[in-house]
Amino acid sequence: MSFAGHHILIVGGTRGIGRATATAALALGARVTATGRTAESLAALPEGIEGTPLDFTDPASVAALAGAIGPLDHLVLSASDAVAWGPFGELTEEALRAAFEAKFWGYWRVIRALAPKLSEAGSITLVTGAAARAALPGTSGLAAVNGALEAMARVLAVELAPRRVNTVSPGMTATEAYSGMPDEARAGMFAATAAKLPAGRIGAPEDIAQAILLAASNPFLTGATLDVDGGAHLAR
Ligand SMILES: NC(=O)c1ccc[n+]([C@@H]2O[C@H](COP(=O)([O-])OP(=O)(O)OC[C@H]3O[C@@H](n4cnc5c(N)ncnc54)[C@H](OP(=O)(O)O)[C@@H]3O)[C@@H](O)[C@H]2O)c1
Repeated sequence: MSFAGHHILIVGGTRGIGRATATAALALGARVTATGRTAESLAALPEGIEGTPLDFTDPASVAALAGAIGPLDHLVLSASDAVAWGPFGELTEEALRAAFEAKFWGYWRVIRALAPKLSEAGSITLVTGAAARAALPGTSGLAAVNGALEAMARVLAVELAPRRVNTVSPGMTATEAYSGMPDEARAGMFAATAAKLPAGRIGAPEDIAQAILLAASNPFLTGATLDVDGGAHLAR
């Protein structure tokens, strides 16, 4: 796998799965641009990765990025700032709308604005989530947000062809997304999840990054969803 001569933009490249993808793409020869919301998160990017500001909940911020960025070969979307956990009867409309805003509408805005910048041999990879199809109690909100993206992506693979569009669906992955939890509770949740998975462990950001770069680079892969979840979509 080589990305030499390719420009890859990673939305949500300052942390977690996006940062691991940016680092791996750089090692494979890509020119890498990564987005983050704050000057602090952009300043902490590894050397060699170009940072650019983006808050995809703000249409003006998306328009500014589209105005500033040049031609692209690959677009990776790996960002979210709101989750909608909880039993269906307890998940509020407000929480679910916030989760759609913080992921579905953000991805939608960025793809609308940047698809015209993609080379014909290029690709879009959307990071979704195992909840979309695993049918686990308490995940109807996550399923709705990520399932909507997966359904949309398959249509985009046809409409935007020959550009390729794929989704990568991670299971629970140890990233900064869980840094707000107390250490003990987080470790307990990770261990309990790992025990239920065929793979016997939860994911590392690098596991997901490898699949994202496979999706971006394989010229015969489009309209696909790669489940990189340790078997979460199988476990009940
Ligand atoms: N970790 C998991 O267990 C897991 C499981 C399934 C699916 N996923 C999905 O995988 C993707 C990445 O998750 P992660 O765990 O790597 O997350 P993370 O470590 O929390 O990183 C989130 C990234 O998104 C950016 N971001 C957040 N809100 C944004 C906004 N409004 N506009 C633009 N960028 C924004 C952050 O940038 P700044 O902080 O620099 O602003 C950061 O780079 C997400 O779509 C998530 O839903 C994760």
